Amino acid sequence: MTFAYALARPLLFALDAETAHGWTIRALKTGILPTAARPDPILATRIAGLGLSSPLGLAAGFDKNAEVPDAILRMGFGFAEVGTITPLPQVGNPKPRMFRLVDDGAVINRLGFNNQGLAAVLIRLQARRRNGVVGVNVGANKDSEDRIADYVAGVRAVRGVADYLTINISSPNTPGLRDLQSKAALTELVCRCLEARGDGPPLFVKVAPDLTETDITDIADVALTSGIDGLIVSNTTITRPASLRGISRHEAGGLSGKPLFVASTEMLRQIARATGGRVPLIGVGGISSGADAYAKIRAGASAVQVYTALAYAGPGLPARINAELAALLKRDGLTSVAAAVGLDT
Ligand code: FNR
Repeated sequence: MTFAYALARPLLFALDAETAHGWTIRALKTGILPTAARPDPILATRIAGLGLSSPLGLAAGFDKNAEVPDAILRMGFGFAEVGTITPLPQVGNPKPRMFRLVDDGAVINRLGFNNQGLAAVLIRLQARRRNGVVGVNVGANKDSEDRIADYVAGVRAVRGVADYLTINISSPNTPGLRDLQSKAALTELVCRCLEARGDGPPLFVKVAPDLTETDITDIADVALTSGIDGLIVSNTTITRPASLRGISRHEAGGLSGKPLFVASTEMLRQIARATGGRVPLIGVGGISSGADAYAKIRAGASAVQVYTALAYAGPGLPARINAELAALLKRDGLTSVAAAVGLDT
């Protein structure tokens, strides 16, 4: 933990989780954070044709409105994913809707895709000097009559300003959204989004950690045959492990952070097996150290993402994970991230 964050953390943690997040975004906008050192060259890697300085990215939901992607990259992340963005602005669910489970290193959120909508975000992304990999995660409005059309609109709008696109069909906070993970719906969704993407950037699909064996087989099949560029595994879970201690553990919403690590890593491993390592995977869920990132890579991930641990550990986290991951690769005699991908699948 950096010295400045050690001072700021008690103040942020005295605030409600969503208010603290708002202040964090404001602080990042001011540009006060120092730029992290460049990641060790051993971490330079590729996924779906994208060159990354580190396989560690920031997961969607932190910068929902693309306000601070470049500040995120300066923290030492190899890539940043903004969104989820829906076609129309949306206020999301009533507050409070984001809860820390401090004893568990976890968060429960039921934000419900609060965001400023495609038009506002597009202006911001068009204005930025493109330097570093920024993906854009798109979703559907809660009241939309045609959810697939919402995803198609998102892909069309941002394909020219995104380094990659993510179709998020796994948020537990928009009723019915996860039904798009079923085979027929997913096939139609993916085909229409790929058509809308045209010769645009790589397109990934983000899935839930709460999939059945049939879901896994179906998703693997669609991933292998449709031409999508990869899967992001996983979003938050609607399950509540018996180990949880935080008083907010019974709040409705998606659970993220440490208690999600094992389930999301096992889901990643199963999807890596089901796709025979032929579909690039981004592993996310409960990472808080270089060892966690390394375990996801060995389970089959070509890149990884983190969100919840950043709220607990602060802006020094990506540099620490990068250093730990580089040391683990070297310890095991590996000369690249790619050499570790899938070793434990
Ligand atoms: C999220 N996540 C998320 N994912 C997504 O695809 N779109 C979104 O808008 C959000 N919003 C969001 C808000 C909050 C407060 C949290 C904690 C998480 C899910 C996130 O990207 C990630 O998949 C999970 O949080 C698991 O990773 P961590 O947090 O355990 O590292």
